[in-house]
Amino acid sequence: MMDADANDREVMTVATQQVVAPPAKAGMFLVLTVNPGAEDAVRDLLPDVSGLTRSVSFRAPDDGLICVIGIGAGLWDRLYTAGRPKGLHTFEEIKGATHTAVSTPGDLLIHLRASRVDLCFELARLITRRLAGSATIVDEVHGFKFFDERDLLGFVDGTENPEGAKAQQAVTIGDDDPDYAGGSYVIVQKYLHDMVGWDALSVEEQERVIGRSKVDDVEMSDAAKPSNSHVALNTITDADGAQQQILRDNLPFGTIRDAEFGTYFIGYARTPAVTEQMLRNMFIGDPPGNHDRILDFSVATTGSLYFVPSQDLLDNPPN
Ligand code: HEM
Repeated sequence: MMDADANDREVMTVATQQVVAPPAKAGMFLVLTVNPGAEDAVRDLLPDVSGLTRSVSFRAPDDGLICVIGIGAGLWDRLYTAGRPKGLHTFEEIKGATHTAVSTPGDLLIHLRASRVDLCFELARLITRRLAGSATIVDEVHGFKFFDERDLLGFVDGTENPEGAKAQQAVTIGDDDPDYAGGSYVIVQKYLHDMVGWDALSVEEQERVIGRSKVDDVEMSDAAKPSNSHVALNTITDADGAQQQILRDNLPFGTIRDAEFGTYFIGYARTPAVTEQMLRNMFIGDPPGNHDRILDFSVATTGSLYFVPSQDLLDNPPN
């Protein structure tokens, strides 16, 4: 929609999906594949998602229920004749000498957040009910806040995320792709940790893996921080030296019975190229061979990439 501002200049005011939000206490990540021939069911559903969200959130207005929908490249081509958003493609496997970022199927991503798990659960039920017989849920992860925003490796996760206007800028497509302005891109990966191996390290060694101190979450000095630490390999700059940022909303998950301890990585960005560069640094290494030591204790078991339409586009899809 176009508005005129005080100077009568035309400015774009596109409503975005609510990608930027404070860390939630509960989250659900659903990845679906859409059955051949079931495109109409998805086309019908997507404009109704904001209404379904209101059906749940209106009854619990203080509990911050947020739903973000992502659409994979293959599904985009099946749903709409409109050209693909510039950065939308199938996630490509990244194979390093030791570790691989796998690419796994995904047509739709449903990312739910709230301060209560029941709200996520209920909205997931309402949305997926509309796709019964039309889609398969290929991955479902229920994440939880763990103490003071720690991952299951025991480190505070999310500290260096951009905030406020900087976060909005980091995640929102702008003039670079005007037809899809107000949208975003998201990459998700489900990691499982080797807790036995991790717990065998001293706290000092663990800190050298991450690049920050464990208890008080302070970044190591450049001199002390190993070049294969997670923080060193994920601090990237453009040709002008400006730091390239993504917005992460990782959550821990797990099962006690199966001794499964994981981190669900979710990274939003205005172009997937930034997240992909971070992944190349982690898996191939910078320089190649100098891979991220976090991967010696964390296996990526899934990987997929989605376009996140603006709220306006989700409500009024293209043809
Ligand atoms: C095993 C999964 C992962 C875990 C447990 C994890 C954990 C952490 C922790 C503890 C930090 C330090 C605190 C912070 O600033 O958040 C961090 C920083 C960061 N991580 Fe991860 N992370 C994981 C995967 C990833 C992936 C796959 C990416 C990118 C594709 C990524 C990108 C970043 C970035 C950009 C930072 C901030 C660097 C800085 O500017 O200081 N992380 N992560």
